[in-house]
Amino acid sequence: MTSKAIAPGKIILFGEHFVVHGTRAIVCAIDKRVTVSSEKNDTAGISITSSLGNATIPITEKVNNVDKKFRPFFHLAKKIINQNDVKNGVNIEIESDIPIGAGLGSSSACCVAAAASISGLFSKPENDKVIELAIDAERTIFPKTSGADCTVSALGGIIEYQKDSGYNAIQIEHDFNLIVVNSQNPHNTDMVVNRVNQYKNDNEESFTDMCKEEDNLITKAISSLQNFDLQTIGKCMSQNQIFLERIGVSNDQLLDIVKSVEKETFGAKITGAGDGGCVIALTENSKKDSVVEKIGAEYETYTVTIEKTGMQVNITN
Ligand code: PMV
Repeated sequence: MTSKAIAPGKIILFGEHFVVHGTRAIVCAIDKRVTVSSEKNDTAGISITSSLGNATIPITEKVNNVDKKFRPFFHLAKKIINQNDVKNGVNIEIESDIPIGAGLGSSSACCVAAAASISGLFSKPENDKVIELAIDAERTIFPKTSGADCTVSALGGIIEYQKDSGYNAIQIEHDFNLIVVNSQNPHNTDMVVNRVNQYKNDNEESFTDMCKEEDNLITKAISSLQNFDLQTIGKCMSQNQIFLERIGVSNDQLLDIVKSVEKETFGAKITGAGDGGCVIALTENSKKDSVVEKIGAEYETYTVTIEKTGMQVNITN
């Protein structure tokens, strides 16, 4: 029996970093995906294969002793095996078309697809259970994750997300054309989140004010998304970029990308942790190819669309 799960990557339209501190964020799934296939084996080991390498680890191994590149998957497999009271292991194979460390949700999509795929070997995976398992797995390498990425990867579409109160799907009738510009400098989310935490501790009052401003911006962004008001969404993105610059997650290269792409589009901002990774911009259908051509002369640039379908599981015997 093979359990195969597919889960999409994501972009954060609004609210990265602030979401870690309790503010809302708007996150959407994109048409780049991870596929995880799992099978039961008859050994006492968990085997993991991905583009980062291969490992076979005894089920009895402690999660914290496992190399970070395999840890979330080992944690998931061990947990699900123990919950189902079985003694044998599983083989897990991960394939991804999402660039790593670019802010496009590669690690969370891997956690969601792995949670769904391994669970599928034992019972029908339910969304909320998969989200819970995936966030728990991601916390083995990134303890402060807000959970926004795993949630949207499991659900698809666009969601409004808040750490303590959960998610609401934002119903959108139109297609949005987003441009992604990859700085090709991978970032370390954990390190950037810790740096923002330090900024917050050093600037408590202004950080609290910025969280309120971000929240107001999100209210405005939700209604402009629902009204397909591209000008206002673009302005909100540019304003969000200013907040991200203030908390110190931008750099000269990202600023240079934002300035170039902003001239050609409704608005642009960093997506994800910053300090590298990607910039996103909102454009119109008729202009997207010329923007990609122009910015693509200097940086890896592509269009993404919003993926309405979240994780999907297929079991074959
Ligand atoms: O860059 P990414 O894909 O790791 O996104 C991080 C987003 C943060 O808001 C900075 C952290 C989080 O868990 O929400």
